[in-house]
Amino acid sequence: MPCGVGFLQAQKEAVIAENGMVTSAYPEASRIGVEILKKGGNAFDALIATEFALAVCFPIAGNIGGGGFMVCRTAQGEYDVLDYREKAPLKAHEKMYLDAEGNVIDQLSQEGHLAVGVPGTVDGMLKIHQKYGSLPFKDLIQPAIDLAYQGYVLTQYEAENLNKYREDFLRINTHIPHQFIKPEGIPWKAGDTVRQPELAQTLERIRDHGRAGFYEGKTADLIVAEMQSPTQPARRGIITHEDLKNYQAVWRKPLIGYYKGYKIITMPPPSSGGIGLLQILGMIEKYPIAKWGVRDKRTLQVIIEAERRFYADRATHMADADFYKVPLKTLLDKQYLQNRMKDFSFEKAGISENITAGNIIESEETTHYTIADKWGNVVCVTTTLNDAYGSKVVVKGAGFFLNNEMDDFSIKPGFPNLYGAIGGKANAIAPQKRMLSSMTPTIVEKDNQFLFALGSPGGTTIPTSVLQVFLNVVEFGMPLQKAIDMPRFHHQWQPDVVFLEKDAFDKHLIEELEKLGYRFKGRKIIGRVNGIRKLKNGKWEGCADSRKDDTAIGY
Ligand code: GLY
Repeated sequence: MPCGVGFLQAQKEAVIAENGMVTSAYPEASRIGVEILKKGGNAFDALIATEFALAVCFPIAGNIGGGGFMVCRTAQGEYDVLDYREKAPLKAHEKMYLDAEGNVIDQLSQEGHLAVGVPGTVDGMLKIHQKYGSLPFKDLIQPAIDLAYQGYVLTQYEAENLNKYREDFLRINTHIPHQFIKPEGIPWKAGDTVRQPELAQTLERIRDHGRAGFYEGKTADLIVAEMQSPTQPARRGIITHEDLKNYQAVWRKPLIGYYKGYKIITMPPPSSGGIGLLQILGMIEKYPIAKWGVRDKRTLQVIIEAERRFYADRATHMADADFYKVPLKTLLDKQYLQNRMKDFSFEKAGISENITAGNIIESEETTHYTIADKWGNVVCVTTTLNDAYGSKVVVKGAGFFLNNEMDDFSIKPGFPNLYGAIGGKANAIAPQKRMLSSMTPTIVEKDNQFLFALGSPGGTTIPTSVLQVFLNVVEFGMPLQKAIDMPRFHHQWQPDVVFLEKDAFDKHLIEELEKLGYRFKGRKIIGRVNGIRKLKNGKWEGCADSRKDDTAIGY
């Protein structure tokens, strides 16, 4: 019986090229990345150019006011991971979002100045350049500077986003961020040009002074001054010059796991994403899902049940490993994972106890890009402001949005963050600690050969989006583009509901699962996966998600 294995939209064509490839969320950013490759830059050079370009032309998630993770595989087959996640400011404390009675103050961790973590992106780019860059840093940031001065052209989606958040920009900032607001309430439309001269000047300071161009001097002064300019005194931000000066991105060891002979190189803590991907795979490995089929009831059941168990573990055991002893060995132990599924039955849905209704915002606003070069280096980057346009705070005089990443901490035990994820002690706020993430930049190998690399935005839906694309390729034999375009589902323990991309699944299949006790809810989209695959003939295949503006460009 055909079970709704259609595509969400008309399938985007995969792009094939010999020398290099960039897949990112915005056409202009992919173009800028490829230009660097064409000039002889390597994948790391292109990464830096793409990241700064996204900060200009994709301000909803691209950033210099946020943070991210990079996982790479060099041409020599070596792996590396950079953690440039934001950190809690020195003055942060466990109860900073609670009132005197211990209740969560509405929106305090989600919008405005107090929601901001110390940004990591600029230090991240400089560290990547120091270790792997081949072209001068100034040549890599210059295209973004030019783009900020000259302006980028809005797509329909991004015009709609600027219009959607206009009132928030005006409400949350004490100044008017003119670059993102059209006068007299005229809405943005596709084809309009957005110019950002203040951001261009900030990027010039980074170009000319490196770290000091952002974490010290005029930019740092503007960030600290912005912290003191909320709409209400109680919402004042706490980032200081010392916080900015202290910030350091960290090189980490990748998390490595195996699934039926495939090697998976992914993100360790402070992300929960890599652990989640490997845990879910470990729990479903013994089930013959390839034989059952991608839209078989049993396939969905075992994936949903494994997701339920991962997110329950996430809430208790996962956090910044520099501050909390994450029991990684146990969480990824084969026997432990098999035991987790012992109470699962095909006869009825599992139950996520003590349900806290998560107030989930349908946010996709992180962004992932993947780049490969002619030498064989592959980089996989997920970067974020957290929610759409982060805290919505634009630094006056510096022209960029600041993140609202503090909401990724557990601000009160059991209280859901904007993705509906809950947590407790492990992910509690502490000064200098990194908030738990779900970002899952991932590389897949077989027999020591690179196969494909991918990642996604989408908060807690990131690990499950990456998981489904991985399974679509590895278990169900789909080409990467088709694997990405397949409709997705998502479960995260609490709330006890399975999210589905709206109208993309067979009604009969869903009714059968409902009879077993599963509850479903439609979402517009789940994840925006961008990936690159190496074809047998040695060429790169770039696969950009067809759900929005994501674009693969090769040469
Ligand atoms: N802010 C989304 C994440 O890091 O998972």
